[in-house]
Amino acid sequence: MEAIANLIPRSLAAEDNLTPAEKLQLQCDAENAVKGEMYSLDCPLCNNKGVITYVDGDTLSTKECECMKQRRFISKIKTSGLESLSQRYKFRSFNAQKPYQKEMLTLAYEYAMSDTNEWMFMGGQCGSGKSHLCVAAAMKILKRGKAVRYFVWDDVYTDIALHTSIGTADEREEMVEALRNVEVLYIDDFLCQKQPKEAEVKLASEILKYRYNKNLRTIISSEKTLDELYQITRGLAGRISEKSGKFLYNIDHDIKKDYRLGGG
Ligand SMILES: Nc1ncnc2c1ncn2[C@@H]1O[C@H](COP(=O)(O)OP(=O)(O)OP(=O)(O)O)[C@@H](O)[C@H]1O
Ligand SMILES: [Mg+2]
Ligand SMILES: [Zn+2]
Repeated sequence: MEAIANLIPRSLAAEDNLTPAEKLQLQCDAENAVKGEMYSLDCPLCNNKGVITYVDGDTLSTKECECMKQRRFISKIKTSGLESLSQRYKFRSFNAQKPYQKEMLTLAYEYAMSDTNEWMFMGGQCGSGKSHLCVAAAMKILKRGKAVRYFVWDDVYTDIALHTSIGTADEREEMVEALRNVEVLYIDDFLCQKQPKEAEVKLASEILKYRYNKNLRTIISSEKTLDELYQITRGLAGRISEKSGKFLYNIDHDIKKDYRLGGG
């Protein structure tokens, strides 16, 4: 008998002496020790699997690991297009000495903190901080749980125009859909060409009229003031004005307001 006992590996022999509860705990620990493949951050609690196994009476259950909130947030930032800009363009790095800067900052901050489906429009003088504040607002909205996408208008237009000529209709539709339906859309440098093309205005209408009808939150910044946009497209400028309500700010064209040139 003793000889046979010596042949049984020690760990198994030890497990044989365990109570069912202790065995279950061992099994649970083994599950938790398995390494996962979620690489966006390193979590010692779930070993990057996103789930934690626990003893639930006489069985094992799983629950979502705390790190999943952070992982979802990271993934939202990555798909938003705001990742690199948001490092530089923060509310707290915006100098608001001049009255118009104070007004811009207050307006953007109030917009970011409100649970509204209204739009925000900032238009006018280049270098005056429009993108800075709109990015800061978009990022704050993202941190408050919304899905946000950032696009530069010329990139959108060029990409979609290219797909219109060389891609399939489905591909084009897919790209337009992404802009139409995202929860919060921020379009930067909107219709900034001196003389926007007809097809460009048509695409802008396609996207913005849809968002207007569906009441989807939209942020727009442009080198053009709303009056200047009105000269190009009354229909869109009117809708932007109506939807933005009090969250509309025009910065008159004044080179002294160009922060890049030492203004502001
Ligand atoms: N009040 C400010 N405080 C700190 N930085 C500022 C301020 N205003 C502008 N800047 C900085 O100046 C640069 C230009 O600002 P921004 O890109 O926001 O201007 P803009 O109004 O969007 O210009 P454009 O019409 O050319 O796109 C950025 O680097 C921005 O961070
Ligand atoms: Mg800008
Ligand atoms: Zn985890």
